[in-house]
Amino acid sequence: MSLRLGDIAPNFKASTTEGEIDFYEYLGTGWGILFSHPADYTPVCTTELGRTALLKYEFEKRNVKVLAVSVDPLDKHLGWRNDINETQGCTVDFPIIADEDKTVANLYGMIHPNASETFTVRSLFIIGPDKKVKLMIIYPASTGRNFNEVLRVIDSLQLTANYSVATPADWKGGEDVIVVPAVSTEAAIEKFPKGVKVVKPYLRYTPQPNID
Ligand code: BEZ
Repeated sequence: MSLRLGDIAPNFKASTTEGEIDFYEYLGTGWGILFSHPADYTPVCTTELGRTALLKYEFEKRNVKVLAVSVDPLDKHLGWRNDINETQGCTVDFPIIADEDKTVANLYGMIHPNASETFTVRSLFIIGPDKKVKLMIIYPASTGRNFNEVLRVIDSLQLTANYSVATPADWKGGEDVIVVPAVSTEAAIEKFPKGVKVVKPYLRYTPQPNID
């Protein structure tokens, strides 16, 4: 059975470009992103890992640890990492798992045999501090991910976790958010001092609570 939202993200030990890691220990008490790549020394993957490295401070601000995985061996990862740093103007300092025996790929269902028998597709999992899977996005090998969207989802998930609000379609940071159905309008008025706009009893907006 493949993983579903709300499931506990399986723990594992792995050999990475930053040494041996235990996934849960690496995540600590914060948020995590585990994302797979089809193969080393491929162009789209090169840009994705570079982009992730360049967003280091955005992930840190959000208390998110990132971890990449592909089924290539460690020595290949290390050589390729030099190319990524050179071509993308970055320093990749997050771990890239060498998942030669496909332990992680199989645990997380990252191999889709009808796409490729041997390589992982572009799976991305966001894992919460409770170690539960909060988001899964799967892209084909030929499409690089949109990392602005990944950050946007993290912001949305963290707003939900901390303030009981949801985010509407195409929401961007700074725009109004939605009061979740579990909070009554009366409770919302008390909880959100910036105000609550009731469009329908089930559709209530409030300014984003964690900004001035
Ligand atoms: C790439 O990362 O560029 C790539 C990998 C596999 C298939 C197509 C593109």
